[in-house]
Amino acid sequence: MKKMLFHCALLFCCVTVGAIGLATAADKGPAEITLQSTIDPAPTPKPSLFPHAAHQARMECGVCHHGKGPDGKKIAYTEGQAIGKCESCHNSGAGMPDKLSTFKNAGHALCQDCHRKTKPELAKCNVCHK
Ligand code: HEC
Ligand code: HEC
Ligand code: HEC
Ligand code: HEC
Repeated sequence: MKKMLFHCALLFCCVTVGAIGLATAADKGPAEITLQSTIDPAPTPKPSLFPHAAHQARMECGVCHHGKGPDGKKIAYTEGQAIGKCESCHNSGAGMPDKLSTFKNAGHALCQDCHRKTKPELAKCNVCHK
């Protein structure tokens, strides 16, 4: 009986630790992402490279991630929030202002803008579109 209890405890530990490990890893998303418009694609697709982990090391999640309230306004990032695809809100059918109405526009408004402010060479097309 004691032995069985011990096994149960051990199993419980492994499952718990495993679940926490997975949750933490999953929360940060992939280290490298290739971003690609699917809802409003350009005639010639231009995937964008995105070193996610390298950006996470430099800045807070909320620089890029946010949510949307029932009034359609932006909600600032809170730790542990569900993180949606940019395109799920930034697409031509979502009633966004023009400058944010596609993945391309939202991507350029976030990514290219910071790159331009950081260092003009970082805003060149081939930095993101190889
Ligand atoms: C800092 C990164 C970055 C830079 C620099 C950048 N883009 Fe983008 N671009 C993106 C992101 C992110 C998207 C949205 C995801 C995608 O489809 O590639 C995008 C999308 C696009 C799209 C739509 C692609 C598609 O498949 O529908 C075009 C066209 C485009 N960019 C052209 C340009 C041009 C031209 C330049 C240079 C003047 C440029 N981009 C510079 C990040 C960048
Ligand atoms: C420089 C901008 C930026 C920063 C900083 C950033 N992310 Fe992301 N993250 C993105 C982009 C862009 C995507 C891809 C979204 C898409 O595919 O539409 C993404 C995707 C994700 C995903 C996967 C979502 C999905 O369903 O595909 C998770 C999870 C995530 N990020 C978590 C985080 C966490 C946690 C942090 C902070 C530790 C963080 N990110 C920091 C830009 C960023
Ligand atoms: C749940 C919906 C939702 C998701 C997912 C989302 N956004 Fe937004 N985003 C919004 C709303 C709402 C606004 C405010 C629009 C306005 O000004 O009317 C906004 C505003 C922005 C702005 C304008 C600057 C600012 O801070 O207001 C940028 C740039 C932007 N989003 C880029 C992105 C990128 C890139 C992603 C993916 C990493 C993303 N958004 C994911 C809803 C979303
Ligand atoms: C708040 C500022 C900021 C935002 C937002 C941002 N970046 Fe960056 N990005 C940087 C900085 C800083 C570097 C590092 C440049 C260096 O190492 O010299 C960088 C590096 C990169 C690189 C590697 C460049 C190279 O040649 O090594 C790529 C690709 C890139 N970013 C794409 C993106 C994309 C795509 C997005 C939007 C989803 C994005 N970035 C959003 C600041 C930003």
